[in-house]
Amino acid sequence: MVPRVRTYIKGLDEILYGGIPERSIVLLSGGPGTGKSIAAKQFIYNGLIRGESGVFVTLEEHPVSVIRSFKHFNWDITKFEKDGKFAIVDAFTGGYGSTAQREKYVVKQLDDVKELSDVLRQAIKDTNATRVAIDSVSTLYLTKPAMARSIVMTLKRVISGLGCTSIFVSQVSVAERGFGGPGVEHAVDGIIRLDLDEIEGKLYRSIIVWKMRDTKISMVRHPMEITDEGIVIQWDKYLKIAPNSVSIQPLDKQEVEEMRKAVEETEKEVEVTVKEEEEE
Ligand SMILES: Nc1ncnc2c1ncn2[C@@H]1O[C@H](COP(=O)(O)OP(=O)(O)O)[C@@H](O)[C@H]1O
Ligand SMILES: [Mg+2]
Repeated sequence: MVPRVRTYIKGLDEILYGGIPERSIVLLSGGPGTGKSIAAKQFIYNGLIRGESGVFVTLEEHPVSVIRSFKHFNWDITKFEKDGKFAIVDAFTGGYGSTAQREKYVVKQLDDVKELSDVLRQAIKDTNATRVAIDSVSTLYLTKPAMARSIVMTLKRVISGLGCTSIFVSQVSVAERGFGGPGVEHAVDGIIRLDLDEIEGKLYRSIIVWKMRDTKISMVRHPMEITDEGIVIQWDKYLKIAPNSVSIQPLDKQEVEEMRKAVEETEKEVEVTVKEEEEE
């Protein structure tokens, strides 16, 4: 069995039949307001509270607002930062302002992927991170789409080379069907898409796993909510969207059972690994 990294996001490990295969780069794609940034933060935080260090690279939000939005969900990352188990890589301020003066990991040349990967490598090494989130990679090639693939490959080499599993947030426009461009879509190991659909004047959130190397995936669109505890996926149901109607349907019992079992198995593996490490 492929070793998994559990996201511990409610319902996500189930629809991935256990979790993200270790060392994968997963593109988390979606339009504005679909929950990409929240999911990326939740992935990092859920690791931290279980002893897995993490790095969050911010390109879209000021580091101060990143911390605030972690706190909005009561995900207190400050103690992990103090203990050297969590780091924010600031690829937003460009080194300007009082915050940047106090930060350890700042990217000064925002269009320089070499500098970003060097700073990121250092942050991963210092924290001993196994989880990385980049919010968003789209920012890196917005003005140079032809470079998208090589930029993503550079980051992929650094991150999986150091043994990390990673979420790359990818921004697409509201009506776009893709995930962020062919260069990127083929370079990553997995693609998960978050959606917001307006039907008869109401918005519906959903999630669909489009691709994930080395694992079986759920082949349906699942209803999803954002709550005060973050993202919650109804993994045992699917969202049936027709042009003028929408309904939540139960999934096949056998499939539900198989997903539940897969997560249970992964949980056992995790326990064994933890035990072995303690005995060493
Ligand atoms: N506590 C909460 N309860 C419900 N929804 C929330 C909560 N906090 C944030 N949201 C929703 O999350 C959405 C933003 O999610 P975000 O991850 O920032 O989107 P994206 O990064 O995809 O643009 C907002 O539109 C907001 O409605
Ligand atoms: Mg965002």
